[in-house]
Amino acid sequence: QIERTLVIVKPDGYSRGLTGEVLRRIEAKGYTLAELQVISPDRERLAKHYAEHEGKPFYEPLVDFMSSGPAVFAIVEGHRCIEGFRALAGATDPTAALPGTIRGDLGRDWGLPVQQNIVHGSDSPESAEREINIWFAG
Ligand code: CMP
Repeated sequence: QIERTLVIVKPDGYSRGLTGEVLRRIEAKGYTLAELQVISPDRERLAKHYAEHEGKPFYEPLVDFMSSGPAVFAIVEGHRCIEGFRALAGATDPTAALPGTIRGDLGRDWGLPVQQNIVHGSDSPESAEREINIWFAG
């Protein structure tokens, strides 16, 4: 059945002007952009979104980074789009991400305490629904 996933063009991707390139790759793959919004993520919703990482050394830097400026939130639809978008995104660490992927082609390590890796994609149908409910009303 058709899946939905939450994709975020994180503040590093947005500020570097990579939004169009990321959305282009999603559309070129054949997925549908069902909803789109540009917002500056607030710390309260970020705490919910990243609850599983609370207490990890990169948690505070992660929330600082994600609340540092505008980001693009998209609901992406298509058969197996959760797995498919994660393949498009590449490995979490942009230095290790393979060329051909969003992070491998466009990302690098900047020597910061949090990995600035351009995009987020939900990792399961349950995470997708949970995350979509945090960022999209109704
Ligand atoms: P994402 O998988 O979207 O959500 C958690 C984020 O935390 C991840 O992207 C990275 O931006 C960041 N992250 C994950 N692991 C590490 C790590 N070991 N060191 C620094 N940042 C990390």
